Amino acid sequence: MQNIRKPLMAFCLAIGVSGVLAQGTPPDIAPMPETKPGNAAMIELGKFLFFDTRLSGDWGVSCATCHDPQKGWGDGQPLSTGYPSTEYFRNAPTVLNARHRIRFLWDGRLDGTDAGTLVRDMVTEAHTMNADGRIVQERLKQIPEYLALWQKAFASNPDPYSPRMFNAVGEFIRSLETNNAPFDRFKKGDETALTAEQKEGYALFKGKANCASCHNGPIGADGKLHRTGVPENPDVLKNPLRTITMLRHYATSGMPNYMNARTDVGHYAISKDKRDLGKFNTAQLRDLKYTAPYMHNGVFATLEEVIAFYDRGGGAGSELKPLGLTAAEKKALTAFLLSLSGDPVLVKDPGQPDLQVRPAYGKN
Ligand code: HEC
Ligand code: HEC
Repeated sequence: MQNIRKPLMAFCLAIGVSGVLAQGTPPDIAPMPETKPGNAAMIELGKFLFFDTRLSGDWGVSCATCHDPQKGWGDGQPLSTGYPSTEYFRNAPTVLNARHRIRFLWDGRLDGTDAGTLVRDMVTEAHTMNADGRIVQERLKQIPEYLALWQKAFASNPDPYSPRMFNAVGEFIRSLETNNAPFDRFKKGDETALTAEQKEGYALFKGKANCASCHNGPIGADGKLHRTGVPENPDVLKNPLRTITMLRHYATSGMPNYMNARTDVGHYAISKDKRDLGKFNTAQLRDLKYTAPYMHNGVFATLEEVIAFYDRGGGAGSELKPLGLTAAEKKALTAFLLSLSGDPVLVKDPGQPDLQVRPAYGKN
């Protein structure tokens, strides 16, 4: 008897709780919150490192190669080029608003509160920077300017066995946030910050178009995984280098039967739970003005294409329903999405200070 009663009680409780939630405030996109400035010395060091190609195995790429401030902190291409001699199978997203991410990466495989681990991933993964973090830190020890910055930030020298290098870059990207977006000004009380059309788009976003059910919170990302059925980008299978990178990603994730995969399986490669097939991390909607093309594989070149996709109820296997938007409603929704973009966040490449080889023994 007890065996039955317990699950029954849990079931009733769950119904009760979800009932209360359903009656709560409907999901909405929120203004950018006030954030405390980060550690200035770490940000300064992290900025140098972000633009420094010596963080990569062959000195060929820096973070900024794929996350270029002039291209909305992405690379402007549908699919990322990847580490020299590789090509990647997904789009390089913006690094703006990293501090407001609940989950990182298109398949949602990393915790959004841990920027240091994300940076370690970017430095060490074969398809991004392909470097050994310990060797990189030994390199950086040969740069007097960096030793001085390290002392300022951490009161220590670079240490191959410490994650400080990753944390410094993490602190830098956490300092890059959407700034002065019309939507935020509107939310702070400036009625004139949005046009009538944008206000109509906002109402659709929360209402008829149902976007806010997934795109909520300050950056419009609920931190959950969803299946919207974005069509495959044919270039992934046409280009053997991209196919290999995809299969290798699945192999290193321990995905069963990975050699047979011919589509981007999304979070399934991480969880190995069939229910996660084709599920992706909700994208943020800030600064879309600067970050085309869109989606995990860059298949949509414009916001009009994205909205047409949602209007049809997404793609194969999608959890979405057709919306039946009129042409004017689609236009209003696009205008609203653009009001979530702020002033361009631009940081100048500080340049790479020279190496000055120090003796291996003796004073260091
Ligand atoms: C060769 C290109 C390349 C380089 C170099 C690179 N990245 Fe990335 N970055 C990507 C790609 C591609 C993704 C998406 C990968 C995925 O989701 O499968 C990504 C994802 C990210 C994300 C996650 C954003 C989000 O919202 O989920 C952050 C943050 C990031 N990179 C920061 C960095 C930093 C910092 C560096 C330097 C240490 C760096 N990247 C170097 C291509 C690159
Ligand atoms: C069921 C949850 C869900 C709903 C509802 C939803 N989205 Fe999305 N959205 C996502 C996910 C997940 C992604 C990433 C999909 C991918 O790349 O495969 C995404 C991606 C996007 C992107 C691409 C952003 C980028 O940087 O690439 C835009 C733009 C977007 N959605 C706008 C909208 C609009 C407008 C609506 C309402 C018409 C909407 N979404 C409704 C979950 C949702």
